[in-house]
Amino acid sequence: MTVKQLFDKQDNLKNDQKFAFEGWVISNRGNNKLRFLVVNDGSTVNNLQVVVKGEEANEKFKIDDINLGTSIKIEGILKLTPEAKQPFELVADQVQIINLADNDFPIQKKEITLDFLREIPHLRAKTAIFKAVMLVRSRLMLEIHNYFQERGFLNISAPIITSNDGEGAGETLIVNDGSKDLFFKQKAFLGVTGQLHAEAYAQVFKKVYTFAPTFRAENSHTSRHLAEFWMMEPEVAFCNLKEIIHLADDMLKAVIKNTIKKQAAEIKYLDELQGGNLLDTLDKFLSKDLTILEYKKAIEILKENKKEFEEQNIYFGLDLASEHEKFLAEKIVKGPVAITNFPKEIKAFYMYQNKDKKTVAAFDLLAPGIGEIIGGSQREESYDKLAKRLAELKINQEPLQWYLDLRRFGYVGSSGFGLGFERLVMYVTGISNIRDVIPFPRVAGSIKM
Ligand code: 4AD
Ligand code: MG
Repeated sequence: MTVKQLFDKQDNLKNDQKFAFEGWVISNRGNNKLRFLVVNDGSTVNNLQVVVKGEEANEKFKIDDINLGTSIKIEGILKLTPEAKQPFELVADQVQIINLADNDFPIQKKEITLDFLREIPHLRAKTAIFKAVMLVRSRLMLEIHNYFQERGFLNISAPIITSNDGEGAGETLIVNDGSKDLFFKQKAFLGVTGQLHAEAYAQVFKKVYTFAPTFRAENSHTSRHLAEFWMMEPEVAFCNLKEIIHLADDMLKAVIKNTIKKQAAEIKYLDELQGGNLLDTLDKFLSKDLTILEYKKAIEILKENKKEFEEQNIYFGLDLASEHEKFLAEKIVKGPVAITNFPKEIKAFYMYQNKDKKTVAAFDLLAPGIGEIIGGSQREESYDKLAKRLAELKINQEPLQWYLDLRRFGYVGSSGFGLGFERLVMYVTGISNIRDVIPFPRVAGSIKM
């Protein structure tokens, strides 16, 4: 049994029940007659307090030697402690040291900054904050799979190595620059999106999704960009922009709601760490319909407030900067907002061209504190319009010919979106730097371990 299971059924725990577990020591205090070991077994951010009573036991088990980070195995009797901070503790019968940590274990009780921890990604998960974040991250991933699987979506493993720049933005990490003597004997990239491949499968299975690592050579040293991140991309046939925005909203709410419930201890820990704002923010999102705002209207609002921004040249056609996105979500809507119908010049080639000839049927879902967490669109149906758009953008049609050809064989329209998984983890944990919500971050200029 794990410590999480103990906490989950704490209302039905019996006094004097036997319990044995293995874990790592978080703190060791007391004297040679009465010792308190705080131990974590990795199943929850909650620790279990272990009491070692009596001089004899303390001597026999060498409790005084146990320093932070040491791994131990403990057997004992659970005692309910309704008056204390923790609901129960374990009075030890047996303590076995498995591996004493060296004295230079870098994670000590004193304040440690996230900046410092970024230098030791192999050890930072041993802190409470990273335990909480990683448990929430894992749950969010499971809940996303559950959401789509329960609704009959096919999970498609889109390729990671591809011969396409699926966004046409030229931000690919290169596997092979096209030299003949290399493995693929042609240009090969790490995928920037699984969307185009998912679109092919949506034309068979109607509802599909991918969930995979994604790679972008964006030279942005920001708190919300990674070179390797995870993206979840659903693609739905017979579906338009309005319907896909609704799916995004419904999916986010279901996933967040279940995560709050199932990782209650971790969310509570993170909430307290942030002065009690996190749960309020999430609850507010869960209880409100998503606000939808036309790009055109968003530009008017930004113009009226241009004194707020560093970039004050605001016009129809502007690619919104992070400061604009955050302003709309934080100050205007005070919650997540979907911006729709962007000018075609600032969006990808595959998006459905609206009748106004100026905009495309796209949406970005912006969240307070982060900005864009989802980008999506209805896809262009017309072979000719796609070919024309590629030519306008000077993107070579040849590698994308297969994608255009999809339109020739019983094609029906489809829509989809990409959720930046780490940005969702940021939103749900309240962590402000994307490097702290992925185990081993890869960013421009740095690839540790
Ligand atoms: O808006 P993007 O570029 O959309 C696509 O890739 C489409 N193919 C999605 C689709 O329609 N199927 O990326 C989607 C999301 C963004 O909203 C953002 O949350 C995240 O991916 N993202 C990044 N996350 C971390 N680091 C980066 N460098 C990211 N670039 C995009
Ligand atoms: Mg985008």
